[in-house]
Amino acid sequence: MSNPISLIETEARAVIGAAADLAALDAARVALLGKSGEVTALLKTLGGMDSEARKSFGAAVNALKSSLTEALEQRRAVLEASALETRLAAEFVDVSLPGRVEARGSIHPISRTIEELTALFGAMGFGVKDGPDIEEDWYNFGALNIPAHHPARAMMDTFYLKAAGRNKPMVLRTHTSPLQIRTMLEQKPPIRVIVPGRTYRSDHDATHSPMFHQCEGLVIDRDITLAHLKGCLVDFLRAYFEIPDLKARFRASYFPFTEPSMEIDIAWDRKTGAIGGGNDWLEILGAGMVHPNVLANCGLDPREFQGFAFGMGIERITMLKHGIADLRNFYESDLRWLAHYGTSPLAPVTLHEGDPA
Ligand code: PHE
Repeated sequence: MSNPISLIETEARAVIGAAADLAALDAARVALLGKSGEVTALLKTLGGMDSEARKSFGAAVNALKSSLTEALEQRRAVLEASALETRLAAEFVDVSLPGRVEARGSIHPISRTIEELTALFGAMGFGVKDGPDIEEDWYNFGALNIPAHHPARAMMDTFYLKAAGRNKPMVLRTHTSPLQIRTMLEQKPPIRVIVPGRTYRSDHDATHSPMFHQCEGLVIDRDITLAHLKGCLVDFLRAYFEIPDLKARFRASYFPFTEPSMEIDIAWDRKTGAIGGGNDWLEILGAGMVHPNVLANCGLDPREFQGFAFGMGIERITMLKHGIADLRNFYESDLRWLAHYGTSPLAPVTLHEGDPA
């Protein structure tokens, strides 16, 4: 008769080795070592044996039990490792795959125009400055030769701010002109700066927004004349609108902080909307020679230093260049509009190359 223990061991090892997954292995464990398992049944027979037989048989069954337990553990380790392999293979992420093309962002037309202004005036030697949106009344008005109660204040619908915790009256700046003052107080001539930035007026319709953008310009030196103002702005307008022979007109006007003051118009055709020719004129920006009082307010001697300043609406020149009809679209964050009028973030500003002629 063959030894039942070695027979059981051979068969049990075969079953354990054949278990294809953890569930099959667990079933084998129960069949061998479980409550009514084969090895457990052998242990139960010990009770009916005499002590000699029990001793040798018991030792053999216990050896079988621990050998099978070990075999089960080894097989479990193998199956677990291969289960992990399978999972890793199934969940593999190929980081070298090219990305999916999702909707691309674009540069907002206002930002784009600011980049163009920076490039164009940069090529003419202008630096860029900025300053606070919440401005002291004195920088926004007083220092610019607009005293309190002066009728010129009525030209701008100002947001006056409660001077909480401050002893100076504050406003949301109504134009970028306060940066004329800040610049002249901060740096000595020669000065050549532009100031693109946000401005605020209490006004709202298809052509006015309570928040809008302006770009200021300021040039101060010893021998600056109206001829420099005209040359600089005509060059700028031709490069910005990309029309080398764009006609411009300088029309007398009034600003408290410039003398003489003027508004600059460009030619256009009212019927077709085409810019550059035609018999109609379109107002584009305000400018003038910096008023002697403004120079003096900044500690500059008007007999020694002169200069010019200009200011334009960024929305306005952007609408004209790109044929945008309604100002409100700029602030609505409509992705369709932005995709149409926005610029690729990778498109370089080439306008500073200027007129090739
Ligand atoms: N600050 C003026 C405005 O907002 C524009 C301007 C700037 C005019 C500089 C002359 C000189 O209307």
